[in-house]
Amino acid sequence: MYLTKDEEKILDGEEGWGKKKAMEILVAIGDIYKADKLIKIENAHVSGASYKNLGDAGLEFLKDLSTDVKVAVNTTLNPIGLDRVRWRSMNIDPIFAERQMEILSIYKKMGVSDVCTCTPYYLRYIKPGENLSWAESSAIVYANSVLKAKTNRESGISALASAIIGKTPNYGYFLEENRLPNISITVKEKIQDSDYGILGFLVGSLVKDKIPYFYLPSDPLDDELKQLGAGLASSGSVVLFYYGKHNKKNILNNIRKSSNAGHVNEEIEITKKEIDEVYTKKTKKKDADLIVIGCPHCSVSELKRINSLLKNKRKKIKKDLMICTSRCIKDNYKELTDEIESSGARVICDTCPVVSPLEGYSCAMVNSGKAYNYMPTMNKISTKIGTTEECINESLL
Ligand code: F3S
Repeated sequence: MYLTKDEEKILDGEEGWGKKKAMEILVAIGDIYKADKLIKIENAHVSGASYKNLGDAGLEFLKDLSTDVKVAVNTTLNPIGLDRVRWRSMNIDPIFAERQMEILSIYKKMGVSDVCTCTPYYLRYIKPGENLSWAESSAIVYANSVLKAKTNRESGISALASAIIGKTPNYGYFLEENRLPNISITVKEKIQDSDYGILGFLVGSLVKDKIPYFYLPSDPLDDELKQLGAGLASSGSVVLFYYGKHNKKNILNNIRKSSNAGHVNEEIEITKKEIDEVYTKKTKKKDADLIVIGCPHCSVSELKRINSLLKNKRKKIKKDLMICTSRCIKDNYKELTDEIESSGARVICDTCPVVSPLEGYSCAMVNSGKAYNYMPTMNKISTKIGTTEECINESLL
């Protein structure tokens, strides 16, 4: 990979050990993927911020790195392992909490925003076409597909290296020829709400790292696209998808023109019956003792919908209903989140059940394809999936 003179100086350590390490990481990635050069990024999003994932080795590495570096671009952080205000009520071990807070202060020292969320796109407007370096698979696929920005699927460490240098290697999804859809997915019947998360979960495991084009019967909401992308990126490694009602023909022409497209004629149909079969698996499982909504973190519109569903029920919830969102949204919409909490639900910030050391539950009901897929392995909690309304209903039983 070509480096400018200034970039070579960084690699030679002339600007300190931390920047040298970051540049070494970017050069190694660039060489592996045959990038021609480094390109500037507008912002970065770093994952792997939970002490549950980083452990002591990660904490020590970050400590060393932070002695002489700051991030060069606006950088946000993924959820950490606890709600920094309510961690005691989450039964978090005080030693875990202490180490987690140390990690957070290290990131802050490097200039990283301490709003810990997997939906950084609710904090800052992302312009179409912007170059980003994002980790967190659900945010990556949303940025590429819905916001029309560009990012590769970064790891926490490569996104941090890019944040420090302000650049990323030019390869993969930064190149237009690699952004063409190469498989089409048709859904003929009406789908909504959690159907999209399940659709993503089903299609991700079929297409792996391909670029699907979804031919849908109606226009999905942004919240539904968020669920679709999170599901796709959890059971597969999808980084980009397209969707629409009317331009399938154009898209397929593009596919056929592309020399890099691979299996250009591959088409799959997913039926509502296949989606419904995932819901009905829940009947084989035990009653949920935890209900989780907010994977990825809730938008304001999702919180409003949850609030109106709770108000319509006019009942206090009986089970642990955990609603995850960013602290920024919770603080800015205090009246709304206070009203949700008056039902007995908990609006949790900074974290989520998957990245926190959640214990003591046997079965969680979720409305997200990603949480449905991850919680059994990450938390050893069995899951069942329902619509958002079914999740609220379950919490009232
Ligand atoms: Fe976000 Fe946690 Fe889900 S990081 S996407 S809420 S697994």
